[in-house]
Amino acid sequence: MMWRFVSFYMLLVLQGSLTVLSASAQEGIRVLMPAPLQLTAGGQRLSVTQQFTISVKGHPDPRLYAEASRFIRRLSERTGIFLDGTGYVRPADTVSSATLLISVKRPGKLELHEDESYRLEIDARQAHLVAETDLGAIHGLETLFQLISADTTGYYFPGVSITDRPRFAWRGLLLDVALHFQPVEEIKRTLDGMAAVKMNVLHLHCCNDQGFRVESKVFPRLQQVASDGQYYTQEEIREIVRYAGQRGIRVVPEFVVPAHTTAILTAYPGLASVKRLYTLQRYFGVFDPVLDPTNDSVYIFLDKLFTEMAGLFPDAYFHIGGDENTGKDWERTPHIKAFMQAHGMKAYMDLQTYFNRRLEPIIRRNGKTMMGWDEILQPGIPKDIVIQSWRGNAAYYESVRNGYRAILSYGYYIDLIQPAAYHYANDPIPDSVTLTAEERARILGGEATMWGELITPETVDSRIWPRTAAIAERLWSPGTVRDSDDMYRRLDVVNLELEGLGLRQETNRAGMLRRLANGWDTKALETLVDVLEPLKIYDRNQGDTMYTVFSPLTKLADVAIPDQRLPRLFNRWVEDFLGGGVAENRIIAQLQIWKDNDLAFQLLLSHSPVLEEAAPLSKSLSELAAAGLEAMHYIRENKPAGGDWLRRQSEVVQRATQQSGRCELQVVTAIRRLIDRAAE
Ligand code: ACM
Repeated sequence: MMWRFVSFYMLLVLQGSLTVLSASAQEGIRVLMPAPLQLTAGGQRLSVTQQFTISVKGHPDPRLYAEASRFIRRLSERTGIFLDGTGYVRPADTVSSATLLISVKRPGKLELHEDESYRLEIDARQAHLVAETDLGAIHGLETLFQLISADTTGYYFPGVSITDRPRFAWRGLLLDVALHFQPVEEIKRTLDGMAAVKMNVLHLHCCNDQGFRVESKVFPRLQQVASDGQYYTQEEIREIVRYAGQRGIRVVPEFVVPAHTTAILTAYPGLASVKRLYTLQRYFGVFDPVLDPTNDSVYIFLDKLFTEMAGLFPDAYFHIGGDENTGKDWERTPHIKAFMQAHGMKAYMDLQTYFNRRLEPIIRRNGKTMMGWDEILQPGIPKDIVIQSWRGNAAYYESVRNGYRAILSYGYYIDLIQPAAYHYANDPIPDSVTLTAEERARILGGEATMWGELITPETVDSRIWPRTAAIAERLWSPGTVRDSDDMYRRLDVVNLELEGLGLRQETNRAGMLRRLANGWDTKALETLVDVLEPLKIYDRNQGDTMYTVFSPLTKLADVAIPDQRLPRLFNRWVEDFLGGGVAENRIIAQLQIWKDNDLAFQLLLSHSPVLEEAAPLSKSLSELAAAGLEAMHYIRENKPAGGDWLRRQSEVVQRATQQSGRCELQVVTAIRRLIDRAAE
């Protein structure tokens, strides 16, 4: 793993990052993410030696022993040290002189509001991790791992005193396994990443129009005809829940009803509002098929199904979706219209509230609290449900002001390919909002949402990570921790730590580049892809018309990642240079690389037709870089470029803003600033 660290840091140095990561990256204190509540640096250091041992005191859940053992394995993998094989993790009664002493009062419960706090004291002799519950201790172990530092004397933990606890109790990630299926191994990787940044809820979006992904023994047609054979057996679900619990993570399932139910209706069409042929939906978007809320069989079905599913997922919360019902199939169905009239319902949302109110006792009978998307917030819905806000802040504040508990997902839609800084700035309780203490307490936290339209097991890690670590920090750390430059500095390091843990965002990218290059050298492609990002928000899928469940997600827009580092750096160099700084040479060197790259790219293209869609971008990058170089020349000579020159370059800039292959160049604005300066 180390070579990757070295090469990445060297790369940053070569690229002349203004923040010199090469020296600081090994100083663990500076890269903690999420940032702890309180940290005091002690000046001492605890060396990592072959004699490293852990002992455990108190009454933790046995999962702590497994996590402590995992810590030792990770430590040896990270440092390359062969630890003495004399029993690594022991109860403290026998060995209290261990390198790491963990003291835990009681087993943690996988419940909302459980104590997750910890304290970590490190001096030259010992690290002492103290927590009320083993869940806090598990978070502390992740902090300790991030603290691993190195210099010429070897590996060490810097002396610190840390007091830490989460700001919000609900720190989740929604993983959509319905639109595209994700195998168990991918879910486990995701859970490892979540644990590394102290997240504690995996929200598993289990079904949608494209498939029903959990085996039902009561209604086996759900997996037989409504999953394309891509579903989790009940055994696998138990394994996911067990694995998550081991990492201190709850699993909250979502079974979305009454809309987004094409898969359910493919298996059981008798439950539909409109009689028609139902087959699995191959496109993505919002569709009319919906359960018939006037049909008692629907409630009998949901009672049996949800009772079965509730038994698989031990968590106290059960998500019933409730979003994006078009209401059209209800409006066009005479017996449903008649039902609405007979019950004095004016709008289809009144009927959905009727449906939710019949559903809620089913959920409650299973010992669960119901949650749903903000659409379910309607008059008459019981107060103990939890609202998950996604359409804006209005429903969210309305929820907590009206006595409901809420979690925030609006602003955390990582599927929309926005920069980490955007999500990072999105606070569940921003300074600008006035809420009473009780209302604040009803804000449980937030969830990043990894919707599945455009992800496969190969690309999903690069969509979740590292940006989700920024959201994890927003939900864990004090609201005053909000410097986005500092967040990015640490995010680049965390990204590699996540790779070290087995996540594959960098590894898979390299493999995807090789596939696209059809076996030829990937360098020219990589140089181009490093400045591309996929189209953002919902533009990439052209209003849900382009992609189906079986479209290739192996192309330019899939290998391009959100929030590219090099454009971020380049922007900073330009900022620095235009402000009178010294970044001139690096800008020129980089522009020269981009200018020359198209020649090599053209050669690659002649061997790899799949790259046709990249050709306009490669050409634009080259032209744009040439314009940038000319601009640098004018600026250096302190000689204003003429109007003709500026007009020609404006056309270049205009061409460079055109998307191709559902991607756009990320350096246009920075180079345009150089061009504008040259003309002044
Ligand atoms: C949603 O994004 N439809 C909850």
